[in-house]
Formats: sequence, C-alpha cells, structure tokens
Amino acid sequence: MIVAIDGPAGVGKSTIAKLIADELGLYYINSGSFYRAVTFAHLEEGGDPSNQDEVLKTAKKLKLEIIDSKVCIDGVDVEDKLHSPEIDKFVSQVSVDPRLRDLINVILRENAKKMDIIAEGRDITTVVFPDAKYKFYFDASAEVRANRRISQHPDGQSYESVLEGIQKRDKNDREKPFGSLKIANDAKIIDTSYLTIKQVCEKVVSAIKTQEMR
Ligand code: DC
Repeated sequence: MIVAIDGPAGVGKSTIAKLIADELGLYYINSGSFYRAVTFAHLEEGGDPSNQDEVLKTAKKLKLEIIDSKVCIDGVDVEDKLHSPEIDKFVSQVSVDPRLRDLINVILRENAKKMDIIAEGRDITTVVFPDAKYKFYFDASAEVRANRRISQHPDGQSYESVLEGIQKRDKNDREKPFGSLKIANDAKIIDTSYLTIKQVCEKVVSAIKTQEMR
C-alpha cells in the first residue's frame, strides 16, 4: 500500500504524514530528506553544491537508506543534521539534477516494494508513485505558511522575510524542469489553511478508509 502526499514547503506534510503513519501502521518516508542527506554529505566533504557532476559522484558513493523511518548514510542516522540554514540554502539547487532524482527515486521505489509506506515530497504523486492508490495534495497560502512558521519557530526573522523565502521556494519547486511540484489529476486536494493538524489527519484517514471500502 502506498499513500503519496505532495505539496509546497511548510504546508505540514511531515507532521501529518508521521501521525498518519502511526495511526495506520505505515512506514514514513520523507523524500526531501534524501536530497538533504546528499547535500549534507557533499558539504561535509567540502564540495561545491552547484557542481552537479560532483554532487552526483558524492551521492553514488553513499549508502542511502531508511532505517526506522530515518534517513541514514552508511548506516548512521543523519536526520538531525539535515535542517541547517546551509542545507536549506543549497538543497533546492541540488535537487534539480535529473540524474540525482533518478537515483533517489530508485531508492524510494525499492522501499515501497518491501513495505506499506506513506511518502511525501514534491513529485511523489506524479513521478515517483504515479500509480499509488492514495494520493493527496496539501495546500495553504504562502501567507498562512509564513505565519505558521513564525509562530512555530520564532527566530527573530520578520514576517516579510519569511514570506519572501517561502515564495522563492514555491517558485523554485514549481518551475524546476524535472520533478516540479504539480497537482496529480487524481489527487485529493486538501486546503490546510484553516484546519488543525488533527482535522487534516481525519480527512486523510477518512478518505483512505472510504476508498478501502469500495
Ligand atoms: O521537503 P523539504 O524542504 O525537506 O525538501 C528539501 C528540498 O528537496 C526542497 O528544495 C524540495 C526538494 N524536493 C524535491 O525536489 N523532490 C521531492 N520529492 C522532495 C523534495
């Protein structure tokens, strides 16, 4: 069973997907963590993240796997190293290379063969698992996401600069030539703007259960 979720940055995909994974007994996979792990490893080596050939070489050397829903490099859990401002800055450009995307998509599909998963990202419903039985697209306006970000992680940044950062990431995600953020025709769209986390979870679980009964 594959539950696939796409949506823009900061819409709550990770929080909600983890809760649904617990509720339905699924294995949680965050595809963005793989792009982050490659960026992390390359920066650790002192490499240039804008050199796609070099980044790909680094990625090919790594044993990237998911253990207990955490991304591991050569068996070591690196999950808590993946959200530094430096990785935030470079990951989007790293994720553009179609050769790297193919490499990561193979790992994602291998995992889905072994277990029931809930996976989230940008191209999960459209490219990675276009045949997934359950597809969702979470949405919320950039303004709502900026306000949530400020209330959840108050780090002194102004509303304007947070909003600008979100708008830039949306533009990158939507305009990249491969694996761009799109809404799959058969995805259920959930606007999370005025819903609580619990309400979004309920909508997803109820959609899955209703479809299961058909
Ligand atoms: O969801 P996130 O912020 O952790 O994603 C990190 C980066 O990876 C972000 O720039 C979008 C990109 N990404 C992607 O291109 N394709 C995916 N399936 C998931 C994430």
